[in-house]
Amino acid sequence: MSKYLVEDTRKVTTHRLIEMKRKGEKIAMLTAYDYTIASIIDGAGVDIILVGDSASNVMAGNVTTLPITLDQMIYHSKSVVRGVKRALVVTDMPFGTYQVNADEAVKNAIRIMKESHSDALKLEGGEEILPSIRKILDAGIPIMGHLGLTPQSINKFGTYTVRAKDEAEAAKLCRDAKLLEEAGCFAIVLEKIPAVLGAKVASELTIPVIGIGAGGDVDGQVLVSTDMLGMTADFTPRFLRRYADLHTVISDAVGNYICDVKECDFPNESEQY
Ligand code: KIV
Repeated sequence: MSKYLVEDTRKVTTHRLIEMKRKGEKIAMLTAYDYTIASIIDGAGVDIILVGDSASNVMAGNVTTLPITLDQMIYHSKSVVRGVKRALVVTDMPFGTYQVNADEAVKNAIRIMKESHSDALKLEGGEEILPSIRKILDAGIPIMGHLGLTPQSINKFGTYTVRAKDEAEAAKLCRDAKLLEEAGCFAIVLEKIPAVLGAKVASELTIPVIGIGAGGDVDGQVLVSTDMLGMTADFTPRFLRRYADLHTVISDAVGNYICDVKECDFPNESEQY
């Protein structure tokens, strides 16, 4: 059992996260997409649960995050929220729901909040989507930014390789991070960028910077739960640490069940009425 299984069971708020950064307390964040995993992760004491649009990949089997719809994200978010007592629940706005214009963005953001009861939303991008970010914040909805490798732009990038390695892209990322903080975002995810850049952004902002492949000198870390639990056996980026091998555990359990059924060992006397 984690020694960080928190005694303080009060609900995590955006203000508490900013306070954690101020005190130098690292923030632990994981994704979840359903009630059962969300309740386990929340019970273990994680600070933020992200209903990521990575659901498109790991739940629906799509190659990218682009196909997942607003209705599907709301379905996943509702299921997660029902399983969570303590963590802050953040839901990704899916591709196409906030890029067209600010009015459409706020309408979609309000729908997610009303129907899912999430605590906050995450949007990918900087200056380009600032009008949408401002309008959503004006509606009283907390926003987490997401810069660096933003998977909804994979067709523009052409590859999932490390972002902001050159000076121009790194400078734009720093500018965007500042703009997001000034606009009122409560935190920013930085994905797959050089560790020195992650450290620089975290030191320049007062809001928490949560990294995924952004090095150790940021304010917290996020991983996709199915990856860190070892369910997605063929995904092996350098930033991923596996804390379990559930692929093997599940595969062995299913193999044993099949044997027991085929050999008439299941159910036994005590497993029937
Ligand atoms: O959708 C997702 O899982 C994410 C994380 C990788 C941060 O955005």
